[in-house]
Amino acid sequence: MTTAPRTPQIQSKLPKVGTTIFTVMSALAAEKNAVNLGQGFPDFACDALLVDAVDQAMREGLNQYPPMAGVPALREAVGAKIEALHGKRYSAADEITITAGATQAILTAILAIVRPGDEVIVLEPCYDSYIPNIELAGGTAVRVPLVPHSFRPDFDKIAAAITPRTRAILVNSPHNPSATIWSAEDMRKLEELLAPTDVFLISDEVYEHMVYDGRAHESAARFPGLAARAFVVSSFGKTYHVTGWKVGVVAAPAALTAEFRKVHQFNVFTVNTPVQHGLARYMAEPQRYLALPSFYQAKRDLFRAGLARTRFELLPSEGSFFQCVDISAVSDLPEAAFCQWLTTEIGVAAIPLSAFYADGFDQRVVRFCYAKEDATLRTALDRLARL
Ligand SMILES: Cc1ncc(COP(=O)(O)O)c(C=O)c1O
Repeated sequence: MTTAPRTPQIQSKLPKVGTTIFTVMSALAAEKNAVNLGQGFPDFACDALLVDAVDQAMREGLNQYPPMAGVPALREAVGAKIEALHGKRYSAADEITITAGATQAILTAILAIVRPGDEVIVLEPCYDSYIPNIELAGGTAVRVPLVPHSFRPDFDKIAAAITPRTRAILVNSPHNPSATIWSAEDMRKLEELLAPTDVFLISDEVYEHMVYDGRAHESAARFPGLAARAFVVSSFGKTYHVTGWKVGVVAAPAALTAEFRKVHQFNVFTVNTPVQHGLARYMAEPQRYLALPSFYQAKRDLFRAGLARTRFELLPSEGSFFQCVDISAVSDLPEAAFCQWLTTEIGVAAIPLSAFYADGFDQRVVRFCYAKEDATLRTALDRLARL
């Protein structure tokens, strides 16, 4: 007698994780033929010269495993860039590692430092991978809200959340989803707060080149008391309009990098070789990232000018490629229901801010992404003009 094959049941390590609002909204946008301003990535092509550089690397035969920490030329290019912009020298050999996107960099940093029972402070609203990453490492996420609506850090609340069990704090500036940036004063306050502690900083700076109105990006690399304890994370995908390539980077002091690389080595080992060579060659021209603020600021201004003709209340967009609006004057619906209505009835998809809070906190704010062709933005604005 044969018995049915048996599939063992998995006791989920992430029981709360299900289909995200991003997937739901994108599917609904496609079904309704809506303009998708929900997804946080460009709808335009990257520079053909970047594709050529990768193509050339492939044709040169650069197609086998690169060194575990990444192609040296790319690590050196990143080190030179950080030094030029922020005055901090990281050693390409010992302090810079190329990762499979910022997402893997953040997970790897967390796995390297967080042990069961540790607490990690996250500032909500936050990028959706942070809390599951902490939980996978056996840690507890301690959620501290940014001030609702202004999304400014509340340092009293952050200070109150630090305990002897706090292993790390995750900070993200320019910020997804709120589009706010941290000032030098904010960074100094964080530096002061962490100075007497052994708390690590994971500084998610994937939108580092998208800071507007002449302001500077205040990288953790600029603040010695932060840099000494920080994993500074960025993403080539965001900077060069190639989010699908999934290449990121982490800069951290040698002792932190050594532990990071132990996890990285047995996680992905290393990252796509020709893409790394292509990026290294493309980065030789700094104007390619230095031009990003004016490129995106023009899109921001176009989008905001159109939104200003609606009844939405526009929140500031100081950095990143997001624009948040308060929907109170337009609708009584909760954020998520409003986004579904907007997609179905108006033909524009947005993301509710509640998706970035573990408890679904609803403050009547939704997020649009303006990393889109001007024509896409104009089509969306024509539709939104009805509101
Ligand atoms: C704040 C933040 N961190 C990290 C990431 C992930 O970056 P990557 O695509 O390089 O993994 C994103 C992407 O949306 C993000 O918004």
